[in-house]
Amino acid sequence: MQTAERLTKIPPYLFMELRKKIAKAKAEGVDVISLAIGDPVEPTPSGIIDELCLRSRDPENHRYPTDEEKGMLAFRQEVARWYQERYGVTLNAADEVLGLIGSKEGCHHFILARVNPGEVVLMTDPGYPAYRSSILMGGGIPYNMPILAKNNYLPVYEDLPADILAKATAMFLNYPNNPTGACATREFFDRTVAFAKAHDIAVCYDNPYSEILFGGQERLSFLSAAGAKEVGVELNSLSKPYNMTGWRIGMALGNPDLIAAMSKVKENTDSGIFNPIQYAAILALKQETTNISKMLDIYGKRRELVLNTLRKIGISFDPPKGTFYLWVPVPTGMTALEFTNRLFEKTAVVVAAGNAYGQYGEGYIRISLTVPDNRLAEAMVRIEKEFGRS
Ligand SMILES: Cc1ncc(COP(=O)(O)O)c(C=O)c1O
Repeated sequence: MQTAERLTKIPPYLFMELRKKIAKAKAEGVDVISLAIGDPVEPTPSGIIDELCLRSRDPENHRYPTDEEKGMLAFRQEVARWYQERYGVTLNAADEVLGLIGSKEGCHHFILARVNPGEVVLMTDPGYPAYRSSILMGGGIPYNMPILAKNNYLPVYEDLPADILAKATAMFLNYPNNPTGACATREFFDRTVAFAKAHDIAVCYDNPYSEILFGGQERLSFLSAAGAKEVGVELNSLSKPYNMTGWRIGMALGNPDLIAAMSKVKENTDSGIFNPIQYAAILALKQETTNISKMLDIYGKRRELVLNTLRKIGISFDPPKGTFYLWVPVPTGMTALEFTNRLFEKTAVVVAAGNAYGQYGEGYIRISLTVPDNRLAEAMVRIEKEFGRS
């Protein structure tokens, strides 16, 4: 069967390839430890699960969740309250909040809502691979803005060519950043708003790691910048802070015109989020913030363990303070892929090669801290043994 041409432009999804590699080695009896995928292993807090079970028993919730096309008003109101409390951002639940099946879905709907075929969409290199796929599926042309360590992994807008800017209508940004862990600043937000206004570029600020911060790093929403709501939307999600990646619930917030357009795309794609999941998310946002501090404590300890091991094998660097990833420079003389392959062959530890996130990811690997403590400890023992200096 001939399938659509648009799909031929989309590279295989990075983690699908990795999953295959891991599955093959496991089938051969290898004790593989994967530090490649960012997916919390600790369970969703039990209060959230109880709420889902309770609400699932109500037949009213078995029907299409379409009474409010942007998601249940109670969910959107709770999201607005959470944003006020966590980030000092005021949102009108009626027209500035849209419920989503995760922030990944929002990336896709943002493109369909804003970008016409042939228009350029700016994204960062390295960057989260799903942006490119969404841009391509929507008929847009991705343009990579390099983000480099010397610029704190922030794009330099002044470096963008004039002909690209003339064709650009949208941009993805993501801080705390996957894969680098870098965080943005309020000053960068102001520059971004000015840049977006000057070139009529709609911003999609993807912020699912907004709560995963270390070393006193300030929690930030792009929408806290003056004028941000005029130029874009922010995406967020319950996946990472509440260990709910499998539940598929998130939100888009900000510019009412974009929210209305994304809602129109969504209405015509699915029929909304299962109500019990929305109720469970309300409970999470209201009552489970202690889970965030608990997880930060766990990730913080794992982060120190990995950094210590890396120091012992001669890799020292000043790690950025966001996300549950470490973006680690590979030893000199090796490419990211060579180092990744050597790690896998010698220790059966899987990490992501930096160039999978774009050409400027060459020279780095990404280590994820979402792995049980004992497995991470075992991985570090193996790495120290293989790469430690005698
Ligand atoms: C930058 C970024 N955006 C979006 C997502 C998807 O998150 P969600 O589970 O909310 O769809 C991820 C997941 O890893 C991510 O790293």
